[in-house]
Amino acid sequence: MAHTHNKSFNTEQMHRARITGVGHYVPENIVTNDDLSTFMDTNDEWIRERTGIEERRWVKEGDGNTAATMGIKAATMAIKNAGLTKDDIDHIVFATISPDYYFPGCGVQVQEAMEMGTIGATDIRNACSGFIYATSIANAFVQTGMYENVLVVAAELQSPFLDKTTRGRGLSVIFGDGAGAAVVSRAPEGHKGIMSCHMHSEGKHKEELTMKGFGTQHWLDEYDEKGIIPEIHFPQMNGNFVFKHAVVRFGEVIGEALKTNRMMPDQIDCLIPHQANLRIAQFIQKRMGLRDDQVFNNIQKYGNTTAASIAIALSEAVQTGAVKEGDTICLAAFGAGFTWGSVLMEL
Ligand code: UT7
Repeated sequence: MAHTHNKSFNTEQMHRARITGVGHYVPENIVTNDDLSTFMDTNDEWIRERTGIEERRWVKEGDGNTAATMGIKAATMAIKNAGLTKDDIDHIVFATISPDYYFPGCGVQVQEAMEMGTIGATDIRNACSGFIYATSIANAFVQTGMYENVLVVAAELQSPFLDKTTRGRGLSVIFGDGAGAAVVSRAPEGHKGIMSCHMHSEGKHKEELTMKGFGTQHWLDEYDEKGIIPEIHFPQMNGNFVFKHAVVRFGEVIGEALKTNRMMPDQIDCLIPHQANLRIAQFIQKRMGLRDDQVFNNIQKYGNTTAASIAIALSEAVQTGAVKEGDTICLAAFGAGFTWGSVLMEL
């Protein structure tokens, strides 16, 4: 049957949205800190102490993993866990900064591979805030009654584009590959679902965490004569600067979510922060006075998977029982742009 998903837009009929199913996928190939020290000047002690990361997943050439294929695996799991089929999905929102193609975005690859009629596919590029932004967009679609079930996918294939020499060690040891997904659906009466979404940006810091190389202002820049790839073709990060802003903005945007919902930190069952650096998460935890069981981290195993990180963490938290239906969960992110945001919800 043909999809007829463009429902009439009626602002008088506002709905609540909730996440009904989550899923994730990470490549099989584990890269430990010791593995990294075989090809750059780094060591396990430095990486653990400064970031909390013990290992990450990096795709292996020929393993078939791309941002889209990993996203499709996560999406399949999320749809199944939501108790739905792909035919129930009305729209796709795909968040990534490492798409298979410069254009079109990965959303259409999900539509094609999962044979989802001709439903719309929105692509967004909000880096570490990608899952927050994507979920906020899905929430708005469901709230207005435009769609009933929106598939949010967040996936990153970053490892091939990292500077794996000592020159790039301040950044490349942090990042990993993987995908997460969630289905945002109309909530039943009485379910609070997604209670608030907040998004922010501050473009004056765009060059503090950036990859200029694929941008149209830079794609003709020549490689240098010795064949050494210029830094602009790799992600660049002013780590200290980003760290200092991250801790402030995380605090602000979580505070904003709590204030909007007239809640205190002790009413959050679980905070799932973007997995950028364990030290950032611990700083926020301490400042908010949260117990260990109120914060979910898995950066130790996966590193920083940019847009995918919160989606992977949420899926793992559900899978391991760290969070359960009915829990009050706060998602929060900060990253390139700078952009940052939070989602407060009842699962
Ligand atoms: O996800 C998006 C948002 N991103 C973030 O939130 C990341 C925020 N920033 C960070 O997490 C941290 O700044 C980093 C983990 C990236 C870096 O940690 P840091 O404590 O800020 O280290 P640093 O950059 O100040 O470097 C300290 C020292 C330097 O050596 P000297 O100059 O003190 O001799 C670096 O050269 O550590 C050296 N260094 C390393 N040594 C071993 C930098 N990277 C490495 C490495 N292995 N991988």
